[in-house]
Parts: sequence; C-alpha cells; structure tokens
Amino acid sequence: VLRLRPAAPLALPHRAIRDSSIAGYFIPKDTVIIPNLFGAHHDPAVWTDPYSFRPERFLEGGGGSTRALIPFGAGARLCLGEAVAKMELFLLTAYLLRDFQFVLPEGKSSPPDLRGVASVVLKIKSYEVIARPRPHGHSQDEIQ
Ligand code: HEM
Repeated sequence: VLRLRPAAPLALPHRAIRDSSIAGYFIPKDTVIIPNLFGAHHDPAVWTDPYSFRPERFLEGGGGSTRALIPFGAGARLCLGEAVAKMELFLLTAYLLRDFQFVLPEGKSSPPDLRGVASVVLKIKSYEVIARPRPHGHSQDEIQ
C-alpha cells in the first residue's frame, strides 16, 4: 500500500548545499530538490503494472524491488519515524482485520475510490464502509 499510495507523495523539499549531480544531471548549489516518491513508485521501467495493488509482487520472484520502494524517502534525511510507523501500521492493520470484517453498505456494489487527493500528504476521499465485529474465538470459516 505504501508503494501504490505513498503517504508523502513528494517527500520533503531539500536544498543542495553544494554543486552536485544526480544520475548524471548537474545540480547547482542552492537548487531545491523535491523527490517525487509517487512517480518513483509508478515508474513502468521499474514496476510491472504499476497502478495495480499486487502485494505479491514483493514475494520472491514476484518482480517487485524493495530497493525501489522508498515511501520514507532515502539518504541522510529519510524519515526519522520509519521504524515506529511500520510497527504502528502493522499492529493497527492486524488488529482491525482480526476484530472486524469490512463490508460494503447495502446498495453499494463498487468499492470506494482509493485514488486519494494529493497534497503534502495523500488524503483519502470520504467513503462508507461497514465494520462488522467478528465473533470472539473465531474459527477458520468465520474469517473470510
Ligand atoms: C506511514 C508513515 C510515514 C511515512 C510514509 C513517512 C514519510 C516520510 C517522508 C517521505 C519524509 C521525507 C524524507 C525525505 O525528504 O527524504 C519524512 C520525514 C520525516 N518523518 Fe516521516 N513518515 C511517516 C511517519 C512518521 C512518524 C510516525 C514520525 C515520528 C515519530 C516521522 C518523523 C519524521 C521526521 C522527523 C522527518 C524529517 C527527517 C529529516 O528531515 O531529517 N514520520 N517522513
């Protein structure tokens, strides 16, 4: 999900403190650099079918590159909260999926539009979903 919808699509602006270069391009001192993380995550030269949610691409042989996955930025000033954020995301998602079943409201047949609204952070458009508590002590057939 952090590939398809990076929370900070344009990371943070940086300024070159001296003349430098990136991938052969000359970057004069004081140039403001805005890393396009969304663009990097949707580059068809790197990702097959870049606009599809296919988490299995990150399994062995799936073609996904964890090196090219940079939702927390890269380099000396990458996100300070990466480790905390990853733990929080894992726990929150695991608890929600363990305790609730998410279903579409009556009369809605298509899932919500998850493309988001771009700003400093990628925001989700409002949507309706029913979070149905799972029965306690769930067995395999209750988890669907
Ligand atoms: C899903 C959650 C998060 C994402 C995707 C994210 C992403 C990012 C990105 C892309 C940057 C800019 C890196 C760059 O410009 O190269 C950044 C910077 C930063 N983030 Fe996060 N972040 C997340 C959560 C957090 C949390 C939970 C904290 C604090 C506990 C945090 C603290 C920071 C700080 C302090 C910086 C500035 C680092 C610097 O400039 O040296 N972030 N984050």
